[in-house]
Amino acid sequence: MITSSHQKSDIIVIGGGIIGLSVAIALQWRGATVTVCSRNTQEAAGYVAAGMLAPQAERIPPSPLLDLALRSRSLYQPWTRQIQDLTGLDTGYWPCGILAPVYQYPHQTQLPQTPESPAIWLEADQLITQQPGLTSEVVGGWWFPQDGQVDNRRLLMRSLIHASQQLGIQIRDGVEVQEIATTTNKIKQINTNQGAIVASHYILAAGAWSGQILPIPVYPIKGQMLSLRVPSDISQLPLKQVLFGSGIYIVPRRDGLIVLGATAENVGFHKSLTPKGINTLLSEATRLYPGLAEFPIEEFWSGFRPTTPDELPILGRSPFENLTLATGHHRNGILLAPITAELIADLVCYDKSDPLLEYFCWDRFSS
Ligand code: GLY
Repeated sequence: MITSSHQKSDIIVIGGGIIGLSVAIALQWRGATVTVCSRNTQEAAGYVAAGMLAPQAERIPPSPLLDLALRSRSLYQPWTRQIQDLTGLDTGYWPCGILAPVYQYPHQTQLPQTPESPAIWLEADQLITQQPGLTSEVVGGWWFPQDGQVDNRRLLMRSLIHASQQLGIQIRDGVEVQEIATTTNKIKQINTNQGAIVASHYILAAGAWSGQILPIPVYPIKGQMLSLRVPSDISQLPLKQVLFGSGIYIVPRRDGLIVLGATAENVGFHKSLTPKGINTLLSEATRLYPGLAEFPIEEFWSGFRPTTPDELPILGRSPFENLTLATGHHRNGILLAPITAELIADLVCYDKSDPLLEYFCWDRFSS
């Protein structure tokens, strides 16, 4: 239990981003009492990402990560439905499919696929029929009909915060962890800028900042992004699905916003937008879909992916029996939120360890 003056909680989630909130909700749904402590919720990667649900378009090779990602993609519809039923708020989940056009004919026009996850090669004429307005430079492309998107930045994060509040989860913003006090195998308390906090169990879900809290190899990879808006004199949405190009993705929302992303820069926690970064995004986007050159720009932003040396998340048990890890999701935090929440909450509440978790354990870096 928390022994500070705040609401009693038996679990503290460190991190108020998409992973922290999703895990907190799953824990509370299983009967736990949860408090989320966040350094600065506004800097969470959940407010930065474009929201692609793209295990196939990201070309994750057959691996435990792909298994995790496909499971999470299939949870998205029921999970967002549950959040929406609870809050009455739309999450912007849209299983619109992802089209991945290419400028050079590939060596082969077959990708690993299953009946549930087809990967369909389209020749240039089929591609342009499916998505008019693409540059004539494209020679064909992949169609991933099961991939999709969610409007994380404007809708999903807001829904998760409302869901948390409705479930009685306390969210404390501005709580900076200064030290984790431990015995040999347990966390005793976390010392923060707002005093000591004690609980019976802790979850570390602090995204790119996780490596500042515990000695685990999680570091930031900056992404710069921007958005455009379909001009008001265009009555029909010109983009029918996400476009995943070379060095660019173009994510059209249903209300006419178009998100462009993202750079991937290993520059520490330096947030600045740069002419080089934004110029690259704009050049690649207008090369792929030239009509975008005339669309009004709405907003620029940047943020930090939480990355590990092998670019896989760190999930599950830790060296401390009352600390569980849910961090390091790199490019796939939005996609992996529902499966992370389910597996971590099952582990913490029921001691049920999904076999997939063993591939993402923290001690793979310790040799
Ligand atoms: N998920 C895409 C990215 O991290 O840029």
